[in-house]
Amino acid sequence: MSEGKSRTSEHTDVDALLSEARQLVEEMAKRESIAGDLLALQSYDEYTYRHSVNVAAYAVAVARYMGLSQEEQLQIAQAGVCHDLGKQKIAIEIINKPGRLTTEEYEEVKKHPQYSFDMLAGNDDVPDIVRQAVLYHHENENGTGYPQGKEGGEVSQMTRILHAVDVYDALINRRSYKRPYMPVEAFEYLMGGEGILFDEDVVEAMRKVIPSYPIATELELSTGQVAVVVGHTDDPLRPVIRITGDEDNIDLTDPEYAALMIVSGGATNHGLTGRMEELNRNREAAGEKQVEVILVDDSYMSLQTTSMALAEDGYHLITLQSGLAAINYIKAKGAPDLVIMDIEMPVLNGVDTVAGIREMGYADLPVIFLTANRNRETVLKCIQVHAKDYITKPVRPIYLRERVAIALDASRER
Ligand SMILES: [Fe+2]
Ligand SMILES: [Fe+2]
Repeated sequence: MSEGKSRTSEHTDVDALLSEARQLVEEMAKRESIAGDLLALQSYDEYTYRHSVNVAAYAVAVARYMGLSQEEQLQIAQAGVCHDLGKQKIAIEIINKPGRLTTEEYEEVKKHPQYSFDMLAGNDDVPDIVRQAVLYHHENENGTGYPQGKEGGEVSQMTRILHAVDVYDALINRRSYKRPYMPVEAFEYLMGGEGILFDEDVVEAMRKVIPSYPIATELELSTGQVAVVVGHTDDPLRPVIRITGDEDNIDLTDPEYAALMIVSGGATNHGLTGRMEELNRNREAAGEKQVEVILVDDSYMSLQTTSMALAEDGYHLITLQSGLAAINYIKAKGAPDLVIMDIEMPVLNGVDTVAGIREMGYADLPVIFLTANRNRETVLKCIQVHAKDYITKPVRPIYLRERVAIALDASRER
């Protein structure tokens, strides 16, 4: 691989874009009108402070890439640094609690956008559009977010950018209650949630602007060699790398290296594994059965993919190939903790199956639908039978795992 040479300079300079964004955010953070609140936030919780600055920098970079005006870039910087100010009003023990939150604690956490919004009231330097973005930064594209359940079309583009970069930064960071995701994994989550939780255009812009493989990430290659990321290219998944012990750089977009694959990026212990342990331990102590998840899909291949994605998370998985089989299983054994149900199935489709299960008296059993399309009609049918969530096929494993944990109340990033 001696001919490999860096072509980084020919590509979009994402690093420069991000560092310019960071500069703008740092200037913004020094403004007298918000510096005091930010300082208070920093002494309340260093993580939340750093997170706010990161979110602002990502947001500015994405806004710039998407063509928002200079003024709007300043506004989104302001919204970014201020979005979680209201967390100061919540007990730090809740914010940094290592285990699962109780319902009451989670309800308290959900008040922070309103608290942030209130703290910015009467601040002449903070325009209305910034306060709105702060208030709605946890709203989802499909209206399932908080505090008001607004849909993507009802909030500003600035708000939708803030929402997606906020989740991204939360995912890639280590917290007292979870290990960090790798950036590629966080992107898989964002992409799984395109059009459901996040604005598709925003996610696409993020993939261009935020490197999936940051500089200095260690990679394992399909050849078994270990390499380190030294630069970026136009393809976020094919960076410029240098193999350990080698002197030349390899641009993975160079056709010469087309066969060279990245098999794992950096640390392999991502944020998810083991989080069911607490739940299962509590169940065991109470003499109850393990967390049980029923997967229903007429395609054997889909069942395989779905169960493989969930295998590491410690669930007791039951795979069934028809709606009727699911109904019979529940009749015989009672309800599981969660059902993951394909919609398009012969004889009894997923929606009718769930309607049948509801009629059997299981009104609150959480159900996640898997569907090949997420048109309005399908979504409405899911809502009618009180679906907890719906996921589009092809299933992205990280997204599925995270949404399952959320449905089971075992995750905080929602
Ligand atoms: Fe927040
Ligand atoms: Fe946040």
